[in-house]
Amino acid sequence: MIRPFRLCLLVALLLPLLTLARGMAAEGDTAELRNQYRRPATIPYPNTNPYTEAKAALGQRLFFDPRLSRDNDISCATCHQQAIGWEDGQKTAVGTDGLRHERHAQTLLDLAWSNALLWDGRTPTLESQVWFPLTAHDEMAQDVRELTEELAADSGYAEAFATVFPDRGIRLITISEAIATFERQIISPVSAFDRWVEGDESALSEQAKAGFELFTGKAGCAACHSGWNFTDGRFHDIGLPASEDTGRYRFSRNDSDRYAFKTPGLRGITRRAPYMHDGSLPSLEAVLDHFSSNFPQRTSLSAQLSRISLNDNERQALLAFLATLDTAP
Ligand code: HEC
Ligand code: HEC
Repeated sequence: MIRPFRLCLLVALLLPLLTLARGMAAEGDTAELRNQYRRPATIPYPNTNPYTEAKAALGQRLFFDPRLSRDNDISCATCHQQAIGWEDGQKTAVGTDGLRHERHAQTLLDLAWSNALLWDGRTPTLESQVWFPLTAHDEMAQDVRELTEELAADSGYAEAFATVFPDRGIRLITISEAIATFERQIISPVSAFDRWVEGDESALSEQAKAGFELFTGKAGCAACHSGWNFTDGRFHDIGLPASEDTGRYRFSRNDSDRYAFKTPGLRGITRRAPYMHDGSLPSLEAVLDHFSSNFPQRTSLSAQLSRISLNDNERQALLAFLATLDTAP
């Protein structure tokens, strides 16, 4: 792991080189655009919860442990499975007692760079997020006191917590800090798209390149799905049918937040079906159909949203591009 001061040094050394390289790449627009999609070199960890290897290992163990749920049958990984983009493949999530959550499980990819979590952004940090699934009756339905006692009775956990948190022991906050540290390491793998961004022209087909041009141009996707992880980190009403779930409005009570949900990153998107906060769209074709349709007329509709009009070739190109944001399993 690279320490922050070494990172500064690295950036200081590389910056002039990068500028030189950029000047030499006379292509102009495409090179400039590609630069906006370059992956960051290191993971940002907060000062309040710095990385250690032992902490991440403890977090990983907790993440995959069904004992975190009341009935010891559901772990974080039940709803966030690596093989399917850290989601669960269900329309909406299923928790303790088979209860249906009202929303679709989100991906955990690249969250080290996110500062508004959950579909409505009601929690700012990975540390503070852990409490929600742990205690929600339709997720893990756990009693925190019972959980800490259960973990303390396990000598492996008792030892690991004593090593990682010598002064604090087993508490909700230390459980959360360990899990959050593991989660920050859940990063999308380097994809064909990344290799192209780094200059390998052969990494993308001509069709996928045309798709990227549509994505950042005429189709307007990059108005919201921007940057290397394909999200602006903001909340938008994209015109899905209205339901009881008013999204960000629920806690902000701002009219403009009605039906606004977090822009998901698009890495690993081909394996993350079904789509949207309510899991209502079964395929990427259906997603494109949505963006091509007439949106309901309501004042909360995002200003960045416009109806797209693509012919068949263009649709295929856009889909080919989206597929390059993943690697084979
Ligand atoms: C029963 C299924 C289920 C379980 C178990 C579960 N989650 Fe989730 N997870 C969800 C759903 C559904 C959402 C979206 C909830 C919302 O927006 O209200 C979500 C959202 C998240 C997010 C926010 C992602 C983002 O982009 O903002 C994080 C982080 C997360 N879960 C981590 C965890 C951790 C850590 C655990 C274990 C302690 C866990 N989840 C257990 C279903 C689950
Ligand atoms: C106005 C901002 C905006 C624009 C423009 C936009 N999106 Fe989105 N996109 C979002 C938001 C917000 C969501 C989540 C909406 C929800 O669940 O209610 C989303 C969801 C998605 C999803 C589902 C992701 C998931 O995890 O379920 C895909 C795929 C997607 N968009 C692709 C595209 C493509 C392709 C385009 C261009 C044709 C596009 N988007 C244009 C904001 C936008």
